[in-house]
Amino acid sequence: MRRARRREPARTPAGLAGAEPGPGFEITFDGRPLRALPGQSVAAVLWAASVLSWRTTRNNGRPRGAFCGIGSCYECLATVNGRPNLRACLLPARPGDAVTTQEGTGHDAPRP
Ligand code: FES
Repeated sequence: MRRARRREPARTPAGLAGAEPGPGFEITFDGRPLRALPGQSVAAVLWAASVLSWRTTRNNGRPRGAFCGIGSCYECLATVNGRPNLRACLLPARPGDAVTTQEGTGHDAPRP
């Protein structure tokens, strides 16, 4: 006689931690609405939306995004709500945040 296999709940990070996240909310990236969950960093929200680059370098305008993910490298600098040079990997997303692509130092005039 074959025994029925007992179904176990899905092994997800939220399930393993017993987390019950609150309702999602919206932020924008360059005007594009993105869904976020409480506790997600700005970088995590951007990654989840397949956005890998949100700033350019000062000298050559090369694309940059998150590298270390722990606040050490400063590659993830972003402009959030008009404030440049915030580390997206450390910054919790908040409802209504407006993230914009940061060019160079974030204090330069936009490139034509
Ligand atoms: S990814 Fe390195 S400081 Fe944010």
